[in-house]
Order: sequence, then structure tokens, then C-alpha cells
Amino acid sequence: MVRRLAEVQGWLHRLYVAEPGARLRAEDLRKAVEVAALLEEVERALGRASRKRPFTLVDAAAGKAYAGLLAAKLVLGRDGRDARVLAIEREPGRVALSRAAAALLDSPVPVECVQADVADRGCWPQAPSLVVALHACGGASDAVIAGAVASGARALLLVPCCTGGGVAAAGLADALAETLGVPRHAAVRRRFIQSVVDAERTWRLEAAGYETEVVEMVAPTVTPHNLLWRARRVGEPGRMARARAALERLAEAAGAAAAPAPRLGDEPPWERR
Ligand SMILES: C[S@@+](CC[C@H](N)C(=O)[O-])C[C@H]1O[C@@H](n2cnc3c(N)ncnc32)[C@H](O)[C@@H]1O
Repeated sequence: MVRRLAEVQGWLHRLYVAEPGARLRAEDLRKAVEVAALLEEVERALGRASRKRPFTLVDAAAGKAYAGLLAAKLVLGRDGRDARVLAIEREPGRVALSRAAAALLDSPVPVECVQADVADRGCWPQAPSLVVALHACGGASDAVIAGAVASGARALLLVPCCTGGGVAAAGLADALAETLGVPRHAAVRRRFIQSVVDAERTWRLEAAGYETEVVEMVAPTVTPHNLLWRARRVGEPGRMARARAALERLAEAAGAAAAPAPRLGDEPPWERR
């Protein structure tokens, strides 16, 4: 991990810090810790993947594509199998920076940086081997889950970021807070809302056929948004049924109708008419 962190810092500096003599800022050093930890996870997922098929990694809500680019260089490129990376980001300036960084990377595996919204199903490849989303902000985490499910992704590593109004389960969490009489003090409410959003995302992934683990990827001193969802598609019917029932119980407790759980092959919610 220490060696990987030093490598990540070196590459972040080479790819993204243009001025000679300039150093990585404090936030870049924290980002390096997150990326190094995520690359350990990518390496583990790669080790579990079949060598018979090409390995496609999607870096969703990629920003400047630190995770995707460095996964290409430091993990996939060293493994020797047929692999590629697709970074999806909607903000044009960040896509331009990713492309410039990719040109400097001299990656042993192809890297493509596309400008698109992760909610646009057309930008997702079919059945990617692994989707990573590091700090997909607000509702972007829900769109990543939906895109990963709809594209038939075999695995997902998701580190959500802030929770705001655009988050799928925010309304459900609010309704549940009211029903249960959770005090309106912001510090108390915020924790409750976050917990319900985390629970709903976990059950939603399980209902769609994924086995999930939720762990602290890095210390909370690196980032308060430090939870990592490891999801691996197993498609176990019993597990999926239990998760659907749990989603229904959550919705019933909030006095709302349960949203239908996504299943592999279903149209994602934004494409339903
Ligand atoms: C907090 S940044 C994280 C970027 C990068 N993954 C990282 O860890 O450095 C979130 C990024 O997601 C992008 N984003 C948010 N919603 C998106 C969406 N619906 N589709 C594509 N990108 C999105 C933002 O433009 C931003 O670059």
C-alpha cells in the first residue's frame, strides 16, 4: 500500500500538476490516499475476474479520471490481459483534462474519456467487468447504480459523496424521519437520512442480484465520505427476494409505495415512460 501510494502521488504530479517545481496540494495528497485504496480494490476484483474475457473497467462520474487512468497504468497494464478503460464524465473541462492526462500516461491498455451523463444509458458498454465510482456526488451515485445494473456490470466499487435532494431515497428517508418522529435538529436528522439512503442503496443493489459489502475504504480523517460499496453480481433469487422485501418494508414504514427494484435487463428508471 505504501509503495502504491508513492506511485499514485508520482503519477498525479506528472499528469495533473503542470508547473515545474510545484507540489501536490493537501487535497491532492488526500485524493492520492483514496485512489491508492481504490486501486487495491480494483486489483482484487481483477484477480477474481475470468481471464477468458477482456476486462472492461468503467470509471463513472470520473472527474479528471484519476481512478480510471491510474487503474490502467498501475493495475490493468501490469496484468497482461486484454483490458480497456472507459471514463464517463459530464463536465467538458474535466473531460479535456482527462484526455490531456491520458495522452501523457502512455498506458499499456486503451483509455477512452467520454463526455456524457452517467444517466445516459447509451454511454455504457455492455456487461462491463468492473464499474468504479469514486465520490459520485449526490444523485450521481444512484445513476451509477442504475447504469451498472442496466448494463449488466459484473462488479461495482462505489464510494458515494454528498447526500442532497437529488438522491433517490432522500424523500423516503425524510418521510421515514417524520413517521418515526426523528428530531429536526440538523445533526441528528442528517445522520438518520444518510443511514436510510445507505440502506436503500444496499438493498437496491442486492435486489438487482448483487452481493454487497460495505466497508470503510479510508480513514474518516481522509474524507468523511469514506464508505465503499463492493458489489458483485451473483444473481441469487433468494437473496434478491429478501432484498426486495426489505425495500418494501422500508417504503411501507415511511408510508410510501415501494419503488420497483431494478432487475438485470430492466429499463433504468429514467427511460421509463
Ligand atoms: C466529486 S467529483 C469526483 C470525481 C472523481 N471521481 C474523483 O474522485 O476525483 C464528482 C464528479 O462527478 C461528475 N458528475 C456528477 N454527476 C454526473 C453525471 N450525472 N454524469 C456524469 N458525471 C457526473 C461531476 O461533474 C464531477 O466531476
